[in-house]
Amino acid sequence: MINITETIGTKNIDVFIGRGALNKLSEIKENKVIIKSKALKIDLSTILGDQRFLMIEIQDGEEAKSLDSVIEIIQRMINYGIRRNHYVVALGGGTVTDVAGFIASIYMRGLKLINIPTTLLGMVDASIGGKNAINFRSVKNVIGTFYQPSIIIDDLNFLDTLPQEELRKGLAEVIKYALTLDYSLYTFLTEHKDAILSKDPEVMEDLVSRSVSDKLSIVKEDEKEEKGIRIVLNFGHTIGHAIEAGSDFKVPHGYAISVGMVCEAKMFEELGYAEEGVVEDTIWLLSQYDLPIDVSKLSYAIDINKALGALRLDKKSKDDVVIMPTPVRIGEWKRVEVPIETLEGFVQQCLRKEV
Ligand SMILES: NC(=O)c1ccc[n+]([C@@H]2O[C@H](COP(=O)([O-])OP(=O)(O)OC[C@H]3O[C@@H](n4cnc5c(N)ncnc54)[C@H](O)[C@@H]3O)[C@@H](O)[C@H]2O)c1
Repeated sequence: MINITETIGTKNIDVFIGRGALNKLSEIKENKVIIKSKALKIDLSTILGDQRFLMIEIQDGEEAKSLDSVIEIIQRMINYGIRRNHYVVALGGGTVTDVAGFIASIYMRGLKLINIPTTLLGMVDASIGGKNAINFRSVKNVIGTFYQPSIIIDDLNFLDTLPQEELRKGLAEVIKYALTLDYSLYTFLTEHKDAILSKDPEVMEDLVSRSVSDKLSIVKEDEKEEKGIRIVLNFGHTIGHAIEAGSDFKVPHGYAISVGMVCEAKMFEELGYAEEGVVEDTIWLLSQYDLPIDVSKLSYAIDINKALGALRLDKKSKDDVVIMPTPVRIGEWKRVEVPIETLEGFVQQCLRKEV
C-alpha cells in the first residue's frame, strides 16, 4: 500500500492507495456517518466490527447533488445525534464525495471528512483538492465550498466492478495531468496501456498515486484558486464545459473534456502558445484509450448557441479575455489570455466539424 501525506493550508491530508486500503477505516474509532452510494454492494460490518455508525445510502448520479438530498441527509444526522467530533465518510463516486464533502463542511461548522472514492475519476480527481459542490435546479456545481478531507482511502478493489466506460472517463483526467504537468505520466500511459485497461493492480496503484501526487502538488500551491496555479486543472474544461452545456449535459464530463483538450490544444498550437506536436501527441494518447477526439465521436448533437452561451458565462472569463492554461510542451504548461472572440471562433470551428 502507498501512503502519500500532504499539508494543504493548515490541514494534514493522508492518502492510502492499494488493494485492501479500506481496512484503514477500522482505525477511526469515533462515531461516524457513512454516506454511501446505493449502487455499491458492500458489507462494512466485517471492517467496522461493533463500531457505531450511521449509514445513509443515496442514489448516486447528478440527482444526488441536490439541496433536497442534502436537507434529508442533515435531518437524519441530527436525528441520530451526529456531533462535532464525529466523522463524515463518503463512499462512492464523485457525486457522493461532492455531496458528503459539502455536508461535512457545513454541518456544525465542519466535521472531519474521510473520502473513499470508488470510481477512477473519484480516486484521481473528485476526492482530492477540497472542492465540493451540488447542483441548483439546472445549474451544475453552483453551491459548494472548499473543504479538505483529512483522509482519502483509494481501495483499488473497487475498480474490479467499475464498468470500462467509467474507467475511461477517469482516464481523461489522468491524461490531462500527463499533458500539462507530468511528462513521465505521459510515458507511463503509453507504455502500460493494456495493463491499465485490464486494471492490473500494480500498474493501477502506480497510476493512481502519480495522479494523486500531481493534483495535490497543484492544490498545495493554490488551494482556493487565487494564485492562477490551480487553473491548470481546467485544461480542456473551458471548451469541455461548453460541449456539456451544448448537449444539455448528456455528453459525459470525461468525454466532453477529452474533445475539449483536443480543441484547446489545437487553438493553442495555432496561436503559437503550444509547441508544434502537442496536438498530435494529445490526439494520439486519447485515441490509445478510445476517448473521443472530436464531436463526431460523441453520441449527442451539440447546440452551438447553447455551447457559446455557456462559454460567455464561464466563471474564468474576465472582461473580454479568458484566462486559460495551455500545455507548452507535453508535461509543461503556462497561463495565457485568450480574447473571447478568438475562443468563440475556435469553438465554432471545433464543434461544427472534425478537428
Ligand atoms: N469536487 C471535485 O473536485 C470534482 C472533480 C471532478 C468531478 N467531480 C464531480 O464528480 C461527479 C462525477 O463523478 P463519477 O464519474 O465518479 O460519477 P458517479 O459518482 O455518478 O459514478 C459513476 C457511476 O459509477 C457507479 N459506480 C461507482 N463506483 C462503482 C464501482 N466501484 N463499481 C461499479 N460501479 C460503480 C455509480 O453507481 C455511477 O453509476 C460529477 O458530479 C462531477 O461534478 C467533482
